[in-house]
Amino acid sequence: MKIIYAKDYSDLSRKAANIISAQVILKPNSVLGLATGSTPIGTYKQLIEWYEKGDIDFSVARSVNLDEYVGINSDNEQSYRYFMDTHLFSHINIKRENTYVPSGKAVDLQEECKAYDDLIQKVGGIDMQLLGIGHNGHIGFNEPDQAFEKTTHIVELGDTTISANARFFDSIEEVPRKAITMGIKSIMQAQKILLIANGKDKEEIINKALNGPVTPAIPASILQLHPDLTVICSFES
Ligand code: GLP
Repeated sequence: MKIIYAKDYSDLSRKAANIISAQVILKPNSVLGLATGSTPIGTYKQLIEWYEKGDIDFSVARSVNLDEYVGINSDNEQSYRYFMDTHLFSHINIKRENTYVPSGKAVDLQEECKAYDDLIQKVGGIDMQLLGIGHNGHIGFNEPDQAFEKTTHIVELGDTTISANARFFDSIEEVPRKAITMGIKSIMQAQKILLIANGKDKEEIINKALNGPVTPAIPASILQLHPDLTVICSFES
């Protein structure tokens, strides 16, 4: 495990974007596992800036996103598909058909979970997975549980996640109670993992996840077992 302490959020974002661009430059058709949340926004901004300067080309890159809320349409501003389009995809030359976000509106959600796992296999697995972390240690939407869920699954969101994500909605009642998320196995099978955490409020959970016991009660703790994990954190604000 490699831990990098960034000076501040912009330093964190630049360092994370550096690692992702190196991945895309070395392997242009990389499968990038991408994440939502406020933390990666700066990383995506930096990538867009470098793309606009002509430093990175995403024309053959592919992406698979970690998760999506259940029950909201992809054109809903709160959906993770909308987030990815707005914060990254519509600003770079990645082909839309090469970007995948699970559908939270599928008629048969179990079938969608299976199809998403098949898709990850079909694209050859994830070369580099970007992750944020929830205050309760969730990664993607893998919430604290009795056991690690291996495959893509439907999850009931925990109270801490619902209140943390309420800031993006008009009211807490509007936050979906369920989500579809990639499982721990697909995340752990990524060739490389890049975990980013920003802010004083993430320091405690990062310490527990990286230095405490590996337990499904803190899903991110499993990352200790990954052979190529880089963590970039800034606990300044
Ligand atoms: C959401 C996402 C996670 C993300 C987490 C932390 O719940 N499903 O993938 O890591 O929020 O978000 P933030 O970066 O805003 O703290």
